[in-house]
This record gives sequence, structure tokens and C-alpha cells, in this order.
Amino acid sequence: MLAIRTAATHIKTVRVRNSGSIAATSVVKACTEVTQHNDLPVLRLANESLRNLSQDKLAQLPFADPFWAFVWPGSFALTKYLQENNGILKNCNVIDFGSGCGVSAIAAASKTSGTVIANDIDEFALAATWLNSELNQVKIQTKRDNLIGLSNEELRNLFSKNENNTQLTLLCGDMFYETQLGVDVAQWFAELSRDDSTNIIIGDPGRHALPPNYLKVASYPLPKFLRDDNSGLLSTFVYTLKTQ
Ligand SMILES: C[S@@+](CC[C@H](N)C(=O)[O-])C[C@H]1O[C@@H](n2cnc3c(N)ncnc32)[C@H](O)[C@@H]1O
Repeated sequence: MLAIRTAATHIKTVRVRNSGSIAATSVVKACTEVTQHNDLPVLRLANESLRNLSQDKLAQLPFADPFWAFVWPGSFALTKYLQENNGILKNCNVIDFGSGCGVSAIAAASKTSGTVIANDIDEFALAATWLNSELNQVKIQTKRDNLIGLSNEELRNLFSKNENNTQLTLLCGDMFYETQLGVDVAQWFAELSRDDSTNIIIGDPGRHALPPNYLKVASYPLPKFLRDDNSGLLSTFVYTLKTQ
């Protein structure tokens, strides 16, 4: 069995090979199967062959860590929260920062008439998001840039001119899994929150790099399929950036 996640939910590194010549969507399709869990959208997630590969075989795959082949506890919380709080996105534009398989972006797209951008630095994650948005018949734009450090205005400018005055919500699912990334994200969010013009909603199971002063607004027990993928974790939470 592939140890994709350890107790601390770190993913073992699988080095990139040949990725330039391989169509990312074909690769994602070959490694995933269509699933549906616990009222989540229909999603392509890791199939048995991806889960059962030996480390040697994993090292030959054309992608690095297949973060996009799993729903992480952070996006599970965000997705549940969006499903339960119908008006929360109203007509907002949305950025799903570090979108992975795209589950939160899909939930957002079904709750707003605004534009949803799924943002990830991994081309395979964006391919998975695109495939998953097709499965769920929602429109999502994808952006493969590192947005960390952009100002509120620069984030707004990612949207077309006639919609960049719309309220912006930034979703952040499970991005506090590494210390330095957590520091960078927390610093960025602190800057963004200075003028309150971007609404930031965070889903996280309480990882070590999550700033302790975020305000917990919802909690969800992890369903069995996520407990199995994240040994040791039982619950996941939604936070806003308002400090306690
Ligand atoms: C732990 S996964 C979370 C995926 C998804 N949000 C979820 O909760 O299911 C982290 C994701 O963030 C992406 N990522 C890491 N650094 C990033 C950055 N600077 N900008 C955008 N995405 C990033 C990774 O490629 C990966 O898909």
C-alpha cells in the first residue's frame, strides 16, 4: 500500500520525470477513478493502482507529489462550510488558493454567479480540477502562478475588467502543512486583511503552521475515507482571519 500520507500527513516525494511531453489530463485520468464521498462533488481521486504502487514505481511517474489525487481535510471543511452556508459567497468572485483536486472551487462555483479561479502551482492539480469541474458541470478558470504576496488590487485584477469591483473571497484549504509555506501564507493574509477588502476563509485540521489566533467558525468530523487517508486526524475546521 502506498504510504501517501503519514500520521503527520506528509506526502512522500515522487520526483518529476518527462512531464513536459505528457498531457496532464491523460496522466490524471490514468491514475484516478471517479468517486463520490459524503455529499462531496463527484471527483476523480487516486485509484487503487496509484495507492498500491511501490516507491520504485512511484519514482517513475511523470509527476511529483500527487496532492491533487486526494481531498485534504482542509478542503473537506471548506466544502462542507460552503454547502451549509448558502449565501456566504453571494455574487463573489472566488480564488481557491492551492486548489489541489479542486473540490472547494467546485463547491464555490455552485454557490456564486461570480467567477471562480482555481489556483495551484502544479499543472496536474489544475488538470484534475479541470476534469472535476467538467464532471460537475461548473465553470472554473485555472491559474498556475504563485499568488503569494499579491496585493488585494493585484488579486482583483486577475478577474476581467468588468468584474474586478465585485467582492472577492479567497479560499485556503490545507495550506499550513509546511513551516515556511505557513509563515509566507500567514504573512500574506495579514497584509491582505489590512483593508478588509478580501474575505479569507481557511479550512484546516489544525496543522502545526496554522497561526493560533485565527477564529474557528465551524468544525466537522472527518468521514471514514479521510480518516483512512490521514491517520491520526479525526476533525477538521473552518477559520476566518479575524483575530480572537
Ligand atoms: C495540501 S494540498 C491542499 C489541496 C486542497 N486545497 C485540499 O485541501 O484538498 C496543497 C496544494 O497547494 C499547492 N501549492 C503549494 N504551494 C502553492 C503556492 N505557492 N501557490 C498555489 N498552490 C500551491 C500544492 O500543489 C497542492 O496542490
